[in-house]
Amino acid sequence: MDKKRVAPSLLAADFANLQRDIEMVNQSNADWFHIDVMDGVFVPNISFGMPVVKAIAAHAEKTLDVHLMIVDPDRYIKAFADLGANNLTVHLEACTHLHRTLQAIKAEGMAAGVALNPHTNINLLEDVINDIDLVCIMSVNPGFGGQSFIENTYDKVKALKELINRKNAHTLIEIDGGVSDKNAKQLTDAGADVLVAGSFVFNSKDSIKTIAELKDIIN
Ligand code: DX5
Ligand code: ZN
Repeated sequence: MDKKRVAPSLLAADFANLQRDIEMVNQSNADWFHIDVMDGVFVPNISFGMPVVKAIAAHAEKTLDVHLMIVDPDRYIKAFADLGANNLTVHLEACTHLHRTLQAIKAEGMAAGVALNPHTNINLLEDVINDIDLVCIMSVNPGFGGQSFIENTYDKVKALKELINRKNAHTLIEIDGGVSDKNAKQLTDAGADVLVAGSFVFNSKDSIKTIAELKDIIN
């Protein structure tokens, strides 16, 4: 069985000390950098855009897992590929032609991800699951770090895992929002492969140790 992964979300980093926080993640046994791009339209918040992603990419030594919370993401697929994104995740709710969007992401050499809001049923992925490298199940409403975990997520993970197995797909399941040592094990037991953690990692006294502990809990 593949190792379960941890992806610290830089949204919770100290932006005045971004390089320091990126180096911390480089030194830690975290697996991916999770990078949240928000447009103030799809979600009620604006995070950061291309110049900041470029600065992150210049220092980050691990997979760049970019989560786009923006409308009409097709406009920026090439731009994020050029910036060095390895995984590009779009929201199902923001895509009119999801299948086409996924092909466009893969054509740029990136892994294609689809994120689902808490209200979106995983059954909507039935006809496209074999084209998806990563499904990001939002366990909070997207837009902000530090929110509390929605308990219904466990059932969603189980249902998605069943769909993936039934369709013989190789899709990874990522969980994003409110992840901590309190729910990590239950999430991976339900079938999650990647846990995004923002405030739990960056608000802790010793982030390297917190990441190591999280990895221990799930592996
Ligand atoms: C929320 C973002 C998350 C966020 C998670 O819209 O997609 O990645 O950074 O933060 P925590 O772990 O604090 O809930
Ligand atoms: Zn995210």
